[in-house]
Amino acid sequence: MNFKDYIRVIPDFPQPGIRFKDITTLLKDGPAYRAAIDALKEGVAGLEIDLVAGPEARGFVIGAPLAIALGVGFVPIRKSGKLPGETVEASYDLEYGKDKLAVHKDSIQPGQKVLIADDLLATGGTISTTSQLIRQLGGEIVGASFLIELGYLNGREKLPGIDVFSLVKF
Ligand code: PRP
Repeated sequence: MNFKDYIRVIPDFPQPGIRFKDITTLLKDGPAYRAAIDALKEGVAGLEIDLVAGPEARGFVIGAPLAIALGVGFVPIRKSGKLPGETVEASYDLEYGKDKLAVHKDSIQPGQKVLIADDLLATGGTISTTSQLIRQLGGEIVGASFLIELGYLNGREKLPGIDVFSLVKF
């Protein structure tokens, strides 16, 4: 299946000059969504994985079904202030200003093997911060899976030592 055909590109969103990759057109197509999750699972075949972790919000729609397909649990990485239990947090730079991501302290046990999942690897800032949180809890990152990779932004360079799997490259 050519997954690129299911991703809609919207020019000048959220600001002039940005060509937004809209995955809602893929998500609403049951067989395409299912095939994408199956393909992501295939991409990590052979890896030992205890947990999938994905950042809010689009990381949930990729990470949670991937976790179910792999038969492992899912750990949500959330924007600061959303998780009710004890958390660890890390700040990251946005184009304008800063944001913070958080994870429950007890969501990953030291030594657990964690696969990161998200819809999109762009600059790599979100996943770099996600990986910091996972490592802070003692998790071992075994890879990072993405539906889309914007190769021209070189996000991989922010993820040294992490094997990156992506289905569609722009
Ligand atoms: C988007 C996307 C990735 C991230 C990629 O999320 O879902 O998580 O940006 O960009 P980066 O590689 O430059 O960090 P966004 O922060 O827009 O949040 P959302 O999923 O809640 O829309």
